[in-house]
Amino acid sequence: MAITSQSFGKSPKGEEVTLFTITNKNNVKATVMDFGAILVNLYVPDKNGEAKDLVLGFDNVEGYFKNSGYFGSTIGRNSNRIENSQIEINGIVYNLDKNEGENNLHAGFNGYNLRMWTAKVKEEENAVEFSLMSPDLDQGFPGNFNVSVTYTLTDDNEIKIHYEGVSDKDTVANLTNHSYFNLSGHNSGSMKEHVLWLKASNYTPVVAGGIPTGEIAPVKGTPMDFTTAKAIGKDIEADFEQLKLTSGYDHNYVIDREDDKVILVATVEDAKSGRKMEVYTDCVGIQFYAGNFINTDGEVCKEGTVYNRRDALALETQFFPNSANEKNFPSCILKAGEKYDTTTIYKFMW
Ligand code: GLA
Repeated sequence: MAITSQSFGKSPKGEEVTLFTITNKNNVKATVMDFGAILVNLYVPDKNGEAKDLVLGFDNVEGYFKNSGYFGSTIGRNSNRIENSQIEINGIVYNLDKNEGENNLHAGFNGYNLRMWTAKVKEEENAVEFSLMSPDLDQGFPGNFNVSVTYTLTDDNEIKIHYEGVSDKDTVANLTNHSYFNLSGHNSGSMKEHVLWLKASNYTPVVAGGIPTGEIAPVKGTPMDFTTAKAIGKDIEADFEQLKLTSGYDHNYVIDREDDKVILVATVEDAKSGRKMEVYTDCVGIQFYAGNFINTDGEVCKEGTVYNRRDALALETQFFPNSANEKNFPSCILKAGEKYDTTTIYKFMW
């Protein structure tokens, strides 16, 4: 167990960016940086003991200045989409950036993934904590919001992501991590043979543009069903309206849960490498995105790779999309003075 740090260049404002490397006793290695509180690399051994980097990203900090796919990103103050880029809290209307047509995606043009966070190394816990002060009306949201995200690497091969935050006004608090995984390695081509299981009997159907209709629909009998594990590619091209609308899976799944504890909600298995990933969370929703629009800009990414659609998948734990407006969904409103506290774990086996 050890944490080392090195320079990763400079932010667009000229601030020094630091890359922190966290290792465990099983040769798992994660790197995270203070620019964007981003997970940059995640090396995990395969069945032959060969470690590979499983997450999409860039070799240098400049790649993360645009990062239109949100590779590895901490998303905040709100994850996912808000209809018409408007919310109402306590009778006051707040206008947000329209950065995806009329809608707001991942909190707009100035996402938390583009900020410098303050890092604190926690050697004993094998963790790095990043904290950020997001002022009143930042991105349009009310309240001074003090938020932190801590990445811990355990000897059980878990990357644990813990978010905490407090605001002085009622606000939206709905952060996530947007890492894209390919369990054969970030540059291994399609992940369509990965086998996915989701602890979700229901999902939230969307209209074109990805805003939920408000309905909570059963997956049973549809290509959306992952309650029995199946290859992601099996039904992805099915003639099913919800899949056509989003060009493949890009939906919020409603986690089957009895309480708000951290539970196992997803597994992903890759027979080729022998790697398996488990996702644990206390969140109510998980956005399964099959990477349908990965790297549409044709950018050269890590190790000279040009990623293609479906080369990796994202499993973004969060409140349901547009939950700030949709009364039918669990609320993502954090009351003034109360604590936002949520944990998601990505655990690896090989
Ligand atoms: C964002 C979202 C994904 C997906 C893509 C589409 O990255 O988080 O779920 O909708 O946009 O480009």
